[in-house]
Amino acid sequence: MGRFENKAVVITAAASGIGLAAAGRFAAEGARLALCDIDGEALAARAHDFDIDPERLLLATVDVREKTDIEAFVTDAASRFGCIDVLVNNAGAGRRGRVQDLSDEDWRHVMGVSLDSVFIASRAAMPHLVARRGAIVNVASISGLAGDGGNAAYNAAKAAVVNLTRAMAVDAGRDGVRANAVAPGLTATPMTERMRAAPKVMEQYEDRIPLARAGAPEEIAAAICFLASDDASYINGVCLPVDGGLSAWTGQPVWRPRRG
Ligand SMILES: NC(=O)c1ccc[n+]([C@@H]2O[C@H](COP(=O)([O-])OP(=O)(O)OC[C@H]3O[C@@H](n4cnc5c(N)ncnc54)[C@H](O)[C@@H]3O)[C@@H](O)[C@H]2O)c1
Repeated sequence: MGRFENKAVVITAAASGIGLAAAGRFAAEGARLALCDIDGEALAARAHDFDIDPERLLLATVDVREKTDIEAFVTDAASRFGCIDVLVNNAGAGRRGRVQDLSDEDWRHVMGVSLDSVFIASRAAMPHLVARRGAIVNVASISGLAGDGGNAAYNAAKAAVVNLTRAMAVDAGRDGVRANAVAPGLTATPMTERMRAAPKVMEQYEDRIPLARAGAPEEIAAAICFLASDDASYINGVCLPVDGGLSAWTGQPVWRPRRG
């Protein structure tokens, strides 16, 4: 028996990268899945590879910036499966720039995809999660734990996701619903493809990440599934860095004085 046998799991932005890897892992562990993405064609093509019965799978084309579309997706998931056990708020997007570089549209885009969607999907799913004593896992970022440089909107949105996770953990814990987040570091998905293709940038990353490599989306998915599962039944309100140790380091030069 998998940890999610017959559980109903809802995931946003599941056509690629971390969302897709999480969907694959939940499917392998027995879940019924409601998946959405703005790219419905890619979602349908990739979900085809999951070893899952079609009636255990709901796919939807949703732009998570559209409030009524997310709400309808959550409602459809609850009526198709009769319940929602897990909500994974995975959607997120960045627009590079310091505050003086960012347009209103850049700011709204990043907030709409990365933060508003978390609020709207969580609000819509909460009564269903309360009914099942379920769990929320938000995909934040180490960019929500400190500033990156030239990434102001994303830093603000992801920090808000981290604290919204804590707020929901405090409020919904009383109803038996847990809310946690993962904070991925550099992960090998299409989002970081251009960055990872730049050898100088990768060299700097390898210097700063104690494990000296990017994470695989499956490694983030494993942490998401852990936090969603009963294995984490007493974990509520944490933001778990999954970053090869990057956020554990002060960033100070490593100095090893000679002995003797
Ligand atoms: N890749 C990393 O290094 C990294 C690090 C930290 C956090 N994250 C976070 O992980 C999450 C997933 O990122 P990823 O790296 O897997 O990205 P990805 O580019 O592989 O996938 C993103 C998915 O989001 C979908 N999407 C984009 N805009 C959307 C919208 N408006 N509505 C619905 N779907 C939309 C895309 O179609 C795509 O399928 C994001 O929240 C991201 O901020 C990623």
